[in-house]
Amino acid sequence: MREVNIAVIGATGAVGMEFLRILEERQFPADHIRLTASQRSVGKRIPVRGQELVVQATGPESLEGVDIAFISATSRVSLEMGAAAVEAGALAIDDSSAFRMRPDVPLVVPEVNGEDVEWHQGIIAIPNCATTPLVMAAQPLHRHNPVSRIVASTYQSVSGAGGAAMTELREQTRGAFQGGAPPPQAQPHQIAFNVIPRIDDFGPDGYTKEETKVREETRKIMHSPGLAVAATCVRVPVYVSHSAAVHMEFQHPMDADEARGILAEAPGITVVDAPEEGLYPMPVDVGGTDDVYVGRIRKDTSHPNGLVMWVVADNLRKGAALNAIQIAEEVLKRDCLKPGGKAAVAAASQSLND
Ligand code: A2P
Repeated sequence: MREVNIAVIGATGAVGMEFLRILEERQFPADHIRLTASQRSVGKRIPVRGQELVVQATGPESLEGVDIAFISATSRVSLEMGAAAVEAGALAIDDSSAFRMRPDVPLVVPEVNGEDVEWHQGIIAIPNCATTPLVMAAQPLHRHNPVSRIVASTYQSVSGAGGAAMTELREQTRGAFQGGAPPPQAQPHQIAFNVIPRIDDFGPDGYTKEETKVREETRKIMHSPGLAVAATCVRVPVYVSHSAAVHMEFQHPMDADEARGILAEAPGITVVDAPEEGLYPMPVDVGGTDDVYVGRIRKDTSHPNGLVMWVVADNLRKGAALNAIQIAEEVLKRDCLKPGGKAAVAAASQSLND
């Protein structure tokens, strides 16, 4: 793989820090690495690959000489830096929702739709961290027996809301034992000893933006615009890893053993499914690992063609930073660092609408 110069925008954040760890673990072929964050962090030193790198301010100048910019900061930063990256001829791999549903921006989980990186126009988006595990589990089954409906209830960790939400869970938990939890700031309600059935704002249909993202992103990644998807997204007092109870309906009956076999063969999936021995995926075991874990696979007794399963993944890794690095690896493998041209976009938009 050729060596590239990269910028990590939002390097001091929960995803950014994980990103730097994974970069080292996977020996990503980065020649020069530039770290940027907000003004608050300028001058901070972060060890990367045995060197101390100094955090710089974020701005168009951060992209000078950069081949790939990984962006995980705020949506506003994504909008500004995504546009600046296109202008500067760098590829932006973006973790926000700013570009995900744009028809000229591929939304990619490499194991599911890696080929979509080929039609990028300078920006590739990473799905929401609740969507990625869902499509990872659904797509291998969908290839064998088309999925017609997905109903997911998520149990999402606070790290999905960033470093401040992690600190808040710690302080509220400590505070609750010492006379009172501090008031919520990073979350809409107290999260310690609670679950919050709301992630992001509500839309007019009663679904939150997070739930709408899960629906629309799943359809886009799976190239299935008509797929029926409904989600209830819930924040739980867990630090890292998102879980989901997922009901899938298929065109034809699907046996739980058959699904187990298919998922066991799928790249990036680990099946942990021996409930009688106490073996099923849980956030405490999954945090810090790369795969999407699936367990409790069983017949949906309420539907002849339905299955139910429990899906857990580290939201900072496969849900964000790891997926971003895998996208970059896919781009380098397919030798498509530079945009593919208008014809590629037209062809891709057509295929998404098929
Ligand atoms: P900083 O640490 O300087 O605030 P998290 O998701 O964990 O909250 O992290 C968000 C990341 O985005 C951090 O690296 C944060 O930097 C960065 N960030 C937040 N606001 C801005 C901004 N206006 N410009 C650049 N980076 C920002």
